[in-house]
Amino acid sequence: KRLESRLRPDGFQAIGTVADLEQFPGIIQVQVDSTAVIAIRHPSQPGVLVALNPTCPHAGCKVEWQKDNSKFVCPCHGSEFDPSGKAIRGPAARNLIGYPAKAEDQSILVKL
Ligand code: FES
Repeated sequence: KRLESRLRPDGFQAIGTVADLEQFPGIIQVQVDSTAVIAIRHPSQPGVLVALNPTCPHAGCKVEWQKDNSKFVCPCHGSEFDPSGKAIRGPAARNLIGYPAKAEDQSILVKL
């Protein structure tokens, strides 16, 4: 889904709704202007919203969320990242870029 950037005064913007995260597959994937964003609920800390850029720091492929394994996996060379975007398996040596996220009035808001 593509969105145009609509910044609120606090610098956050809506990328989806709380309901989007409650329904299967429990993920919001959008493109805000030129920035790709994925948001999930942290599987072991349901109160924590995780928003990150799915661009793999190794060579730029888009990582995919594997809900059953609770990790992000890059389809190109197999790098893996934990639910908060931390690199746990190479070749990627850096973490995914994360963004502040919060829920407010049924909206999921991120600050890019
Ligand atoms: Fe992701 Fe190489 S681009 S592992």
